[in-house]
Amino acid sequence: MISTKDAFVVRGLGGKRSLSGIIKVNGSKNAVLPLLAASLVCKGSFTISNVPLIEDVFRMNELLSDLGVAVTTEKKRVYSYDSKNVRTTELDHEISKRFRASVILTGPLLGRFGKVSFPHPGGCVIGERPIDIFLYGYKKLGAEVSETGDEFLLTAPRGGLIGASIFLPLPSVTATEAFVLAALQAKGITTIKNAAVEPEVTSLVEFLISAGASIKGAGTSTLEIHGKKGLLNPRNIYKTIPDRLEAGGFLVLAALAAKDVTITNCEPEHLEIIIETLRRAGVPIEVGKSTLRIRSEGQLSFIGSGFKTHEYPGFPTDMQAPMTVFLTQAKGENLIFETIFEGRLAYTQDLVRMGADITMWDPHRVMVKGPRKLKGKVLDGPDIRAGLAFVIAAAVAKGQSVINNIYYIDRGYERVEERLKAIGLDISRVIVS
Ligand code: EPU
Repeated sequence: MISTKDAFVVRGLGGKRSLSGIIKVNGSKNAVLPLLAASLVCKGSFTISNVPLIEDVFRMNELLSDLGVAVTTEKKRVYSYDSKNVRTTELDHEISKRFRASVILTGPLLGRFGKVSFPHPGGCVIGERPIDIFLYGYKKLGAEVSETGDEFLLTAPRGGLIGASIFLPLPSVTATEAFVLAALQAKGITTIKNAAVEPEVTSLVEFLISAGASIKGAGTSTLEIHGKKGLLNPRNIYKTIPDRLEAGGFLVLAALAAKDVTITNCEPEHLEIIIETLRRAGVPIEVGKSTLRIRSEGQLSFIGSGFKTHEYPGFPTDMQAPMTVFLTQAKGENLIFETIFEGRLAYTQDLVRMGADITMWDPHRVMVKGPRKLKGKVLDGPDIRAGLAFVIAAAVAKGQSVINNIYYIDRGYERVEERLKAIGLDISRVIVS
């Protein structure tokens, strides 16, 4: 495992546009994690390709192995999963608490085995992350919920979960995924209304359908799952969709510092709002089928616009931090409104230390005045996305930055420094043993 003490040292470009070359996007973290959880509702082995080699995937593999799932590395970024020898439905506390997506496993375990115990899941420090919607949905499906100390125990009725109509108070991404996976083994039909429509949810639903599930409404906010069809039977290798958040982060970096950078292996359709927001600001983006290219002769100047985070296809909360860095380099006074998570703007204080002009109005809103020159600093990566935003800020800044605590960056981005180095960024990993 990578040490939490590892750091990145970045020598900033001081505003120069010199990055050049090709940078490849890997498979999506938030798409692959529910796919791995889906191994628990599959008969026999199933194989997933384009798996990003990131810390959250390693933790999910550890959790699945601990449950008794056979996890096999077929080749680089290709894994097979076989759940025929699952021996427990108790999620290991220590591993589960390290990443919130562990909570997705509660759905397939409860649906297939009728019970699951788990701790309150951990994750990034981006505000309170309750699990009330999960508990509400499982109760709707007939489960009993009990809580002792730090542990939740869910128990299905004797004959298994019972199909129900679940209206989500918020279109929670992982709750939608967990309910779909639970409902596959429920008796009758389950309808999830106000379901999340993020591409990662749709990718899970499409995979399940390809493996024999009967689900209507893929890609819409109403999903109808016909349960009790037995375990699924995936026939083909399923390829993880490209990570739109990684592509978006690279696009912001390229917008600020590229001479000629092409981002490959991405899905531009999943990034429309980011592409449009940057284009409106004056960033020249050439969109191909699975590529994004930014070229510039000399300096560019940008006019920023504020934004409000929103569920897909609106502005993703996971792109809020990189876009805030962009706005520090754009002309104007722009308000950023983080509507999804409270506490996901705290990192802006570090950008202020770097020279940005950002005023916090309240935990959900900041005002960014730009453009401002940034200076390299020592920073502590607070969460996956703000961690990458610090790398972008450090790349733009003058002088050297040290970004500590890069375990957070490694949770979501595979060896990002190697890919950034290949396009000309002076970045290195300092390993602290
Ligand atoms: N919420 C509740 N109660 C619940 C569940 C969620 O109040 O029981 C609230 C959350 O606190 C939040 C809102 O609902 O205010 C939406 O959160 P959601 O449940 O959709 O988030 P999530 O499923 O925990 C996924 C991604 C996050 C991403 C969000 C929003 C995965 C593994 N994680 O989290 O990704 O920010 O959706 O799109 O898919 C990241 O990749 O860095 C990351 C944090």
